[in-house]
Amino acid sequence: MRVRSQASIVVNCGQLLTLAGPARPRAGAELQELGLLRDAAMFLKEGRVAAVGFYRDLQSLLPRDVEVIDAGGRAVLPGFVDAHTHLVFGGNRIGDFEQRIAGRTYQEIAASGGGIASTLEHTRRASEEELLGAARRHAEWFLRGGTTTIEAKSGYGLTEQSELKILNVLRSLQELMPLRIVPTLLAAHIVPAEFREDREGYIAMITEQLIPEVSRNGLARYCDVFCDEHAFTVDEARRILQQAKQSGLGLRMHVEQFRVDGGAKLAAELGAKTADHLECTDAEGIEALRAAGVQPVLLPASVFALSRTEYPDARAMIAAGLAPVIASDFNPGSSPTASMPFIIALAALYLRMLPSEAIVASTINAAASLDMADEVGSLEPGKRADFVIHECEDYRELAYFLATPARPRVFVDGCEVI
Ligand code: NIG
Ligand code: FE
Repeated sequence: MRVRSQASIVVNCGQLLTLAGPARPRAGAELQELGLLRDAAMFLKEGRVAAVGFYRDLQSLLPRDVEVIDAGGRAVLPGFVDAHTHLVFGGNRIGDFEQRIAGRTYQEIAASGGGIASTLEHTRRASEEELLGAARRHAEWFLRGGTTTIEAKSGYGLTEQSELKILNVLRSLQELMPLRIVPTLLAAHIVPAEFREDREGYIAMITEQLIPEVSRNGLARYCDVFCDEHAFTVDEARRILQQAKQSGLGLRMHVEQFRVDGGAKLAAELGAKTADHLECTDAEGIEALRAAGVQPVLLPASVFALSRTEYPDARAMIAAGLAPVIASDFNPGSSPTASMPFIIALAALYLRMLPSEAIVASTINAAASLDMADEVGSLEPGKRADFVIHECEDYRELAYFLATPARPRVFVDGCEVI
């Protein structure tokens, strides 16, 4: 990745949201603390933030050849961190989309051969080059929306070879694009059709072959399991994730999207980094997450885009003291959006999160959920200079003006990337 070696100074930041504070998940009153500086400047050196403050106070630090970036009075934020995406897949699900418009449910479509299974077919058939081409297009969308770090899951291959193919695509993509990518193994997305009568055989393939190989080759940092109706049971998820933990992978889980089955409690029991979805989770589940320090990752677009109305109870989670993350869940089936401003708007309208809370949840809290809070997610001395000059003067516009075709200026390691 290119790192800007020349020093630069960003001047004229009408609002500079530093998110300054501890490099750990934030909860309670901290969720409204943005470290907002008005009419501020930010000094960058070697791709990192060197100092923030008023221009007149930073002036003495500046070398003579400093490059000046004029933010024009606009709002400057850390690049968004999207902690839950399914970036790599073949084909699309426009057919499913039309069937849902005609009244069929996500589950009905999945049961009749559409859904995840249809994306499997396309992804298995696609060459690495084809998948890389599609993934590049998706990665561009993230950058254009002001996202500079994403977590990206495998999970549309579900054979040893095709899961490795997806993780290799992510590795190649990281070489080509400035978007930071944190890979996750999601071989336990569903049980593929050829193993329908032999679930144990599929689980053994994951635990005995894929997990050891992926961890040996450093192809993923986390392991995820879709624990729900039509996917994996709590007991199956436990066995897979225990193996992943032993192999040195961090744990993330898709839980309780469609029913309460104890998935949230399992995330707590195993000390998972995150429990994602949680649309159906009850007070007991929330308490278990709190006691174990598991971060909830809320995915409002996957409720919205399925025309469902059961949003996760973010207010109860915040009241209980959890440190929420919001993410896109970008995927071809339930959440075809890469836009974090749109997720922030949905979080405001349907999760009842203030714009400030949604921004903490999509920057520093998301970074903490990826064990990256000391590198990204805030604009403080020593952190990566991953930041965005948004096309607005008040950060709350990001939540308020819906689906706006804005053109933010996006920087990674101090370099303008789009
Ligand atoms: O996170 N819940 C499971 N997986 C995805 C949906 C995948 C798909 O429909 O292709 C999700 O919503
Ligand atoms: Fe997902």
